[in-house]
Amino acid sequence: MSASFTLRAPAKVNPVLEVLGKRPDGFHELALIFQAVGLYDELTFTPGQTFGFEIAGVPAPLAADDSNLVVKAAQLFFRDVLKRDGGVHIQLEKRIPLAAGLGGGSSDAAATLLGLDRYFDTGWGAAKLQPLAAQLGSDVPFFLHGGTALGTGRGEKITSLAPMREIWLVLVKPSEGLSTPAVYRSGKAAFTSGEKARGFQALAPNLDATGLSQVLFNGLEPAAIHLMPLIGEVRQALLEAGALGAMVSGSGPTVFGVAKDRSSAENIRARLEGRGWGLFTVPTLASGIE
Ligand code: C5P
Repeated sequence: MSASFTLRAPAKVNPVLEVLGKRPDGFHELALIFQAVGLYDELTFTPGQTFGFEIAGVPAPLAADDSNLVVKAAQLFFRDVLKRDGGVHIQLEKRIPLAAGLGGGSSDAAATLLGLDRYFDTGWGAAKLQPLAAQLGSDVPFFLHGGTALGTGRGEKITSLAPMREIWLVLVKPSEGLSTPAVYRSGKAAFTSGEKARGFQALAPNLDATGLSQVLFNGLEPAAIHLMPLIGEVRQALLEAGALGAMVSGSGPTVFGVAKDRSSAENIRARLEGRGWGLFTVPTLASGIE
């Protein structure tokens, strides 16, 4: 057991997301690039008699019950790692928008596993926690590593890549969320070979903002726009406001725009204010949860 501490759990975007095909288990085979970005939830671990969980500054509708991925991650950790229930209190401060395609819930789950491993001094580390993370969701294993990574399988098989240079992005989140299963089920995803995601590995360390804009791809974008046409308008608005390129992140509905530099990102953000969209200027990160 340890004293109290706080972990920052970053969001992600997917500069490349390729859907290769549908699998017999109902999931889709993917080849995708994950990139951690500087927008964070915070998880604070403090001593407690029993397990406790609360959400500070709750953005409805997020429940602090068993349906929350933090609680699911803690239950899995107690069952498979600690092999008993643990006395610890977790407070989650939510800043990453929900159902946004930014991986907030998945990052919280990974931070819970890493935080409990540290709190109870169980010494599993990211590599050994990987299978537990994969049980919690396809995006969770990425967040054990952070930085830039290639995901294969249903997205849970992670190969860390050399970090990208710092590039500034503008994240635009329409007020409504989008359900990931609905996007996959829509029948509108574009199927591709995986070449773009694999090709990204060699390019990543040398990409500047212009280079990144030229390689953006998301096979789920047609599906997301089909379900929420507003996404197409957001993408267009980002380009008109000065983004070098723009793409839906994950299954949406957040669209990220690539900016030339930090001040350009702030300008783009300012131009998009007043339309009821959530706006964030963020740098790409070489790190993950810490
Ligand atoms: O793994 P995760 O819980 O994030 O997946 C949520 C849903 O998204 C799945 O139930 C499935 O409908 C869809 N999905 C998929 N193929 C993937 C990842 C997710 O079809 N590779």
